[in-house]
Amino acid sequence: MVLVTGGTGLVGAHLLLHLIENGESVRAIYRNQYNIQKTKLVFELYKKGDLFEKINWLEADILDVPSLEIAFIDIDYVYHCAALISFDPKDEDLLRKTNIEGTANMVNFSIAGGIKKFCFVSSIAALGDIAPHETYITEETDWNPEKPHSDYAISKYGAEMEVWRGLQEGLDVIIINPGVILVPVSKTKIFDEGISELYQKVVKGLKFYTMGSTGFVAISDVIKIAYELMKSNIKNERFTLIADNTVFRDILNTIADTLKVKRPTIHAKPLLMNFLWMADLIFSALFFQKRRITKATAKASYSKNLYSNEKIKTALGTVFLDVHHYIKDSSKL
Ligand SMILES: NC(=O)c1ccc[n+]([C@@H]2O[C@H](COP(=O)([O-])OP(=O)(O)OC[C@H]3O[C@@H](n4cnc5c(N)ncnc54)[C@H](OP(=O)(O)O)[C@@H]3O)[C@@H](O)[C@H]2O)c1
Repeated sequence: MVLVTGGTGLVGAHLLLHLIENGESVRAIYRNQYNIQKTKLVFELYKKGDLFEKINWLEADILDVPSLEIAFIDIDYVYHCAALISFDPKDEDLLRKTNIEGTANMVNFSIAGGIKKFCFVSSIAALGDIAPHETYITEETDWNPEKPHSDYAISKYGAEMEVWRGLQEGLDVIIINPGVILVPVSKTKIFDEGISELYQKVVKGLKFYTMGSTGFVAISDVIKIAYELMKSNIKNERFTLIADNTVFRDILNTIADTLKVKRPTIHAKPLLMNFLWMADLIFSALFFQKRRITKATAKASYSKNLYSNEKIKTALGTVFLDVHHYIKDSSKL
């Protein structure tokens, strides 16, 4: 049986559907019943609501060791997707706990349980820092602790260290490092945060765009590749999963055009982004709100990072979906 963590999240829900469609028997852990409904909505979005009943749900928390002990009974393969994604500095401790300690727990149970292969969903945030003579960030690019990193990036990097420790202790592992994951574009939202939140902002008339860029990838590619890697003889490697390096403005325009709403028109230059994060800091402190723009996210919005996807293309012969086509086509679901 396959164990999936984070099955009530964006990646885990899509992964559960893919696993079931491929005849796998799956157990998914959840923390509260309400969030299971999000997974159901994902299945229904793809008109596969009938398959939802095939999930063996079990209440467990990756930080709660006794609950994991039960979750690991009769498990052969593990996909660890659960994580906290937050750029709010107030979440620093919880990020480290959930992402590093939670992953350490998953690795420890996998070693003890003789798990055949362990897939960890990491992020391009955990890849290294480009040196002046380099152009592309690859799986081999060194992490430079002297450079500024978001708490989220540090927590995902720390989580990867736990997975590599598992490898040293005899566990076969695969790490995938996806870029920003695109899900089907829709005016109705299933998930509150991440890309779904961005779609809603565009619907509501988002005015600003930036000329920064990063790697984007369609959820269907992420899931397909994770499964292929787990089924292959490839092990103890990590793979960057991005279809392309794309400018934020271009992605926002495609989303706006697909949803038939106005494109963002104001170029938010670095100066404006820095003003916005400081304004957000003051606003959140005054009104006890969660931070929406932080120094790290403001910087990321105008950074131009280039990631290479050559390694996965060579390993599996992957042909990625074009992200603009994916956005347009996914809206027809
Ligand atoms: N979304 C992206 O663009 C993106 C890009 C690159 C990498 N990733 C990585 O992909 C993975 C999945 O991301 P996502 O977008 O699916 O995130 P998400 O939608 O926020 O889902 C997070 C999942 O983790 C679970 N979780 C959090 N803390 C937990 C805990 N202590 N015990 C058990 N489960 C816990 C959540 O459960 P609850 O429902 O109970 O909260 C939820 O199922 C993460 O590792 C993330 O770093 C995501």
